[in-house]
Amino acid sequence: MAEKFYLTTPLYYVNDIPHIGHAYTTIAADVLARYKRAKGFDVRFLTGTDEHGQKVWQAAEGQNKPAQQFVDEIVGRFTAAWDKLNISYDDFIRTTEKRHEITVQKIFSQLLKQGDIYKGEYEGWYCVHCETYWAAGETNEDMEGRKLCPTCGRPTDLLKEETYFFKQSKFHDRLLKHIEANPDFIKPDSRRNEIVQFIKKGLKDLSITRTAFPWGIIVPEDPRHVIYVWFDALINYISALGYLSADDDMFKKYWPADVHLMGKEIVRFHAVTWPCLLMALGLPLPKKIFGHGWWTVEGKKMSKSKGNVVDPLALSSEYGVDAVRYFILREVPFGVDGDFSINSFINRYNADLANDLGNLLSRTLTMVEKYFQGQAPRVKGQAEDGLSKELVSLLAETPKVFDRAMDELAFSEALSAVWHLISQANIYIEKQAPWSLAKKGEMERLAIVMNTLYNVLKLTADLIAPFMPETSLRLLAQLNTGGDKVAKGEALFPRLAKTA
Ligand code: ME8
Repeated sequence: MAEKFYLTTPLYYVNDIPHIGHAYTTIAADVLARYKRAKGFDVRFLTGTDEHGQKVWQAAEGQNKPAQQFVDEIVGRFTAAWDKLNISYDDFIRTTEKRHEITVQKIFSQLLKQGDIYKGEYEGWYCVHCETYWAAGETNEDMEGRKLCPTCGRPTDLLKEETYFFKQSKFHDRLLKHIEANPDFIKPDSRRNEIVQFIKKGLKDLSITRTAFPWGIIVPEDPRHVIYVWFDALINYISALGYLSADDDMFKKYWPADVHLMGKEIVRFHAVTWPCLLMALGLPLPKKIFGHGWWTVEGKKMSKSKGNVVDPLALSSEYGVDAVRYFILREVPFGVDGDFSINSFINRYNADLANDLGNLLSRTLTMVEKYFQGQAPRVKGQAEDGLSKELVSLLAETPKVFDRAMDELAFSEALSAVWHLISQANIYIEKQAPWSLAKKGEMERLAIVMNTLYNVLKLTADLIAPFMPETSLRLLAQLNTGGDKVAKGEALFPRLAKTA
């Protein structure tokens, strides 16, 4: 039976429409899902939307719409975006769906019964934007004495309300031990160190219900309370698999998750609250939590008020979906912060896609047509000349480097290995000078050269498939691997005029 691989993205808040940051995590997850499927894994790829909480409630109020109607309208923007970006998710969960609400309520009741949830009073500060509780000592203070959220810098609200607490403190030692015993649990290592420092300061119990507004999953035992949006949302990773439902086959098959992908700002919820909750339920912990870096735009934090939010759909319409998918995973190492600018996008498009890959394909096919009437030469035996031997050995080495990088979610490195091969192949053309081999009538050597180039392109089509599924197919169609003659077509990536 095929080995299973379960991966997830965060559930995005539907207070706003999808932007390049949401697309980043979702494309990364899609690339990993496609890669694992091609390796024969039985993949389950989950994404979805986080629809409760005060932030979404306020956004709906701001538009004078009933919350349910508001979220129903926005969720379509997410599914449409993922369709356009060729996201091959297997399931899309909305936290307002019954299948999710029922599981969350069952979990709440179970933990209440077993004493891991208890009633009390919360007093402290709350950031609606981050949907996060802060103790006074954790906030920053501005000149007017306002308590600011340490994550986003916005003013927090003072809360004093009756609440149910989750006994997170109880799992302090077990969690630390787990993190220490499993170096791959939180990645990259910098994130892991931050979490260890945080836990070592002591784990407090977490307020997990609110009474100040009505938009959330109702506490069955005490309907004045709605469940805190994070406690609700994290459970999606198991509710989507049917945990505690009549049909939990998927849960049995796919849990624990192989990787939860997310941005660095929400690693704490996933690496602290979520494992504690799973331990309370007696369930195994996810194998990996990966917190990638943040995108800024032209050096600035992306925000609606600055008007610099990058729309992945507009970008895809203008430059092609695959160019967008390629750029965001190639430009910065996964895990590190990056900056988006239209200039760097165009530069990379022209250098890597139009020049390196595009030229290799069109030069190779032109020569196969010219020297071999379009028939890619099949060569028996080994290449004898040093240049060919070198490229052939790089051809054998590249998939190994690529796989090692993919295993570490080093997407940029994996792509860089493919582009190293491509640029070596372009250099190989210059050095072999097939045109002079043809002139001198050295047809055997010419056949070896064309065959080697053809094999480089075939391997490239294979390796880039998870990143650029459409391009991979177009490449294969032009190589016409199943057919008799190559079918040179349009340029894969027409050169772009420079804007700035
Ligand atoms: O946090 N750069 O939802 P959210 C990189 N609902 N990634 C970015 C980004 C940026 N500038 N902006 C957003 C939530 N992201 C919760 C999650 S999970 C049970 C609940 C991506 O809509 C990144 O993955 O604020 C980040 O973690 C996520 O969007 C936050 O999405």
